[in-house]
Amino acid sequence: MSATLSVTPVHLTVEHYPGDVLGIGQTVPRLSWQYSDVVPADAKTELEITRRMPAAQAVVQSVPVGRADNVLLPWPLTPLNAREQVIVRARLTQADAVSEWSAPLHFELGLTVAFEREAAFVGPAQLDGHTDHRPQPLVRTEFVVPAKPVQARLYLSALGLVDAELNGQRVGQDILTPGWTQYDDRLELWTYDITQQLQAGTNALGFWLGDGWYRGRVGFKGGQANVYGDRLGVFAQVEIFYADGSEQQIFSNSYDRQWYTVNGPITASNLFEGEDYDARLTQPGWTMPGFDDSGWDTVAQIPFDNRKLELPILPPVRAHGQHPAVTIAKTGEHKGRTNWIVDFGQNCTQRVRLHIHNLAAGDQVSIQHAEVLEKDGSLSTRPLRRGQQLDTYISNGEDALWEPRFTIHGFRYAEVKGWPGELTAADMECIVYYSAMKQVGQFASSNQLVNRLHDNVLWSMRSNFVSIPTDCPQRDERLGWTGDISLFAPTADYLYDTSSFLSNWLVDVRSDQKKWGTVPFYTPFIPFAEWSSPQAIAIWGDAAVTVPWTLYMNSGDKQQLASQYALAQAWIDEVRGYLSPDGVWDRKPHYSLGQLGDWLDPTAPPDDPVKAMTQKELVATAFFARSVRLFVKMAQALDRPEEAERYERLAQHIGRGFQHRFVHADGRMTSDTQCAYALAIVFNLLTDQPELQTKAGNRLAALVQASHGQVSTGFAGTPYVLPALTQTGHLQEAYSLFLSDKCPSWLYQVKMGGTTTWERWDSMLPDGSVNPGVMTSFNHYSLGSVAAWMHSTIGGLTATAPGWRTFRVAPQPGGGITQGQTSHETPYGLAAVTWQLRADEFQITVTVPNGTTATVVMPGGTASKTVTAGHYTWSEPAAVSVQ
Ligand code: BGC
Repeated sequence: MSATLSVTPVHLTVEHYPGDVLGIGQTVPRLSWQYSDVVPADAKTELEITRRMPAAQAVVQSVPVGRADNVLLPWPLTPLNAREQVIVRARLTQADAVSEWSAPLHFELGLTVAFEREAAFVGPAQLDGHTDHRPQPLVRTEFVVPAKPVQARLYLSALGLVDAELNGQRVGQDILTPGWTQYDDRLELWTYDITQQLQAGTNALGFWLGDGWYRGRVGFKGGQANVYGDRLGVFAQVEIFYADGSEQQIFSNSYDRQWYTVNGPITASNLFEGEDYDARLTQPGWTMPGFDDSGWDTVAQIPFDNRKLELPILPPVRAHGQHPAVTIAKTGEHKGRTNWIVDFGQNCTQRVRLHIHNLAAGDQVSIQHAEVLEKDGSLSTRPLRRGQQLDTYISNGEDALWEPRFTIHGFRYAEVKGWPGELTAADMECIVYYSAMKQVGQFASSNQLVNRLHDNVLWSMRSNFVSIPTDCPQRDERLGWTGDISLFAPTADYLYDTSSFLSNWLVDVRSDQKKWGTVPFYTPFIPFAEWSSPQAIAIWGDAAVTVPWTLYMNSGDKQQLASQYALAQAWIDEVRGYLSPDGVWDRKPHYSLGQLGDWLDPTAPPDDPVKAMTQKELVATAFFARSVRLFVKMAQALDRPEEAERYERLAQHIGRGFQHRFVHADGRMTSDTQCAYALAIVFNLLTDQPELQTKAGNRLAALVQASHGQVSTGFAGTPYVLPALTQTGHLQEAYSLFLSDKCPSWLYQVKMGGTTTWERWDSMLPDGSVNPGVMTSFNHYSLGSVAAWMHSTIGGLTATAPGWRTFRVAPQPGGGITQGQTSHETPYGLAAVTWQLRADEFQITVTVPNGTTATVVMPGGTASKTVTAGHYTWSEPAAVSVQ
């Protein structure tokens, strides 16, 4: 071969990991890649796969595959073994031409064989009394390494949270390890490369342990501590390979008397409430060899069934940039010690790292965090409830760099108290944290307020994708509320590749479902207050169907869908038992709040979020009908025609019941609300009667006009009201609702200075005061579900087949917006749209990735064309005028 092909394979990945990865559990992992440009039709792909057991000879194999096999190619060789390392590169070949090799992908298997996880969980022997504000232990050991190794790994997990240090240096970059899973069932075992950190001679390993979700207080209404256990422990297995072929293993254990523990300088730690650090208790050099640990106790073994350890698909929580202080204002001074309020400019999940100096031993500095300020300029801490987000540092008189370790805060403002003298921006960093996922979606328009709203959606997503999808990142709650992600998943999946993150969470949803007999209100489920015995509620429980389906539409991964099928089916089968004979869901649940319905409808009073204008049975039945329809599609996708047919009959029955019970002959609905019409239209509950669909669209438009563009939907209706208007030809009303900036509206939040999307339309009231409801957050993603409409209608991009194999490009300009652009990195490559509306011309540029087909519809819906891979630009006389 001589000539060079300019197109190359790019972005090689294994399963749904974003790039290189250690410690995976799949022995026959699937491979994916994309191409740098349009691939010639007769080109082929060659994979070069290098396999190697640690410190052994590598075996290189060439695997010819089709150029279109590039999404989730089944593993083409014999299954991989525990610890095996793989390097994959790819190139294109065509007749006598060949491309450059792609950048290599590296991955490695973890301890896939359960009985090879030989370490034990170890920690302090004593129990820590009744308080849940207790000292956090350290664990250390030393071991001798005869020579510099060629490879070394640390396999790490914990009951609680763990940070590891080796010879004084941190291991890895993850925080909140091992993450939150339903620990009764499964606990993640992480793999770290420690080859470079090991030295010939004596080495020291140290572990900080923290209460975290395992033992710390979690949840609301007082929450609960010790949910999963009352004793912390670390699991550490070190495996070292030498050039001469020899191996060495070190296991955490309680019998060889080489593992020691002591209470560390963190005197209390809680994910929500904050962390206390007493530097006077610091033991310098405790993770260095030769440290005198004679005062430490030997560890005890903490019972745990190692078969529950599993290799993560869950992405780790990591730092993603910083927010420098925007303003620093002095609020008080006493004897040379000062108090300050710092504005970091962005509300999100982050932590402050302070450069401690000029403090005498015993001096205390504290940092309290809050999302917003009260009108008098003080921190608004009331909405945090018990989760006060207060960190304290007691100095030992030495300079230090201090960042809390096992707590995490949702805030924009921080009050630093007890600082010596001036506080400047150089005294601190504010570090942003969330689960490491790849951003795959972008959006921009000519309207800056709209762009800010989109940024706010992104920030609320990031803030709440920390190990599990939470409702909010700040108050004493932070639970995996199923309803919130049920509504937000289409937006989330467009913006980030959430495949691993959400599939991981769905494993726990399924196990909670088995345990509690229903899809609980939140997962991992813990009984609290009136939520102690889960019952099926619409939208929340529908996550069992909507989240798997949304993932499938984005990834096209049938294997993943198949593994989530039982969850979806059990939900449908359960709820079918709560339907009245006419197919309406009105027989359950029996508990104080009942259905949550159009939760947080803007007319609901601050203390009664469940009071809504739309009938709860209407909302529940509409969502269930949609779930059954999606489940039919799942059955079809997985080749289960009989089930598809059986559930299709159920869907039709519910559809008839819905119309009969909730839609009058003249098209009016029993709840004459934006939410009711929106659900009926978008969930196709009227499509068998086109005149009813038209009437519903007209009535919805009339309601919007009558409200002068005011939003009147809560959680349930909000994602669907703009799509319903758009779908029924009322684009103008859709834009007027979307662009309103009066309370309640999306842009009201932007105008009020919001940097995230809020839980309530009016979390901050027009006079600048904080909503008096005890449930007021400034960082909930559910109302941000509007971004899905921004992507499909302003930007103009929608998947029409699983995995974006086909998609639709159909921007519908309006509301005076003259430019739009959006892109999504599909499994096949980038799909992108950019358009501009000038006085008399509409111009659009479209990128279609290899292996996909796009249908392009110009504004006004007239010309439509179907195109395959390529870059296209078209212009035509403007169908819409620039207003
Ligand atoms: C949460 C919500 C959740 C709701 C359900 C709230 O406290 O923050 O987002 O879905 O409760 O009741």
